[in-house]
Amino acid sequence: MKCFLLSFVLLASSAYARTVFSAVSVNGVDQGHAVGVRVPASNAAITDITSNDIICNTGFIQPVSQAVITVPAGSQVTAQFHHTSAGYVGPDPADPLDPTNKGPVMAYLAAVPSATQSNWFKIFESGYDTTTRQWGSDKLFINGGNATFTIPSCLKAGQYLLRAEAIALQNAASYPGAQFYMSCAQLSITGTGTTSPSTVSFPGAYKPTDPGIVVSGIYGVTSYRAPGPAVFSC
Ligand SMILES: *[C@@H]1O[C@H](CO)[C@@H](O)[C@H](O)[C@H]1NC(C)=O
Repeated sequence: MKCFLLSFVLLASSAYARTVFSAVSVNGVDQGHAVGVRVPASNAAITDITSNDIICNTGFIQPVSQAVITVPAGSQVTAQFHHTSAGYVGPDPADPLDPTNKGPVMAYLAAVPSATQSNWFKIFESGYDTTTRQWGSDKLFINGGNATFTIPSCLKAGQYLLRAEAIALQNAASYPGAQFYMSCAQLSITGTGTTSPSTVSFPGAYKPTDPGIVVSGIYGVTSYRAPGPAVFSC
């Protein structure tokens, strides 16, 4: 029975979106592949939301970059996703992800090191746009893997981890099934802001019963609520 279940799970997981966040741009300036980003070697999904791997992924390419990317509060940051951990390597119909795989794209920050990577607030969410009928994943595909968002201008200066994430929902009718793809980048946010937003923990922020994580009928969806807290704004 176990064997049967295992092979069923393996079969079911063959429809992987497979995408990796591996580079950052600041106000349109590319910081370079894997610079300041903890890039997982594998583009396989994380599916266990109770595992520490849901924080920043696992199995990083060594050595992990020691670079810390300077980002003035209020600037536009782009998280660049591509099909594999190698970044953009030429035309690929599944770059940045398989366009048949649908789901939200989000970004979180955590102040470090006091937060020990666990106290996160959300700064960006691209779920399902009922006007254009596009998922965050559709917009990510159209934008060549670039998810661009603003670093809140009121944030207290300091060292932060940026966690950018794409979720694929085509297997998400039951839990585990949703596929989570994320990496973390090392940022030094500068500025004169004083705000420390309230936070959630990873693991913990996502629940196996969240309507944004257990979803069926994604191709005919009329509304969708992405998992996690509301987006912080100043
Ligand atoms: C994505 O961002 C990179 C780095 O900033 C840039 O070179 C590239 O042109 C962008 N791609 C698209 C489709 O906008």
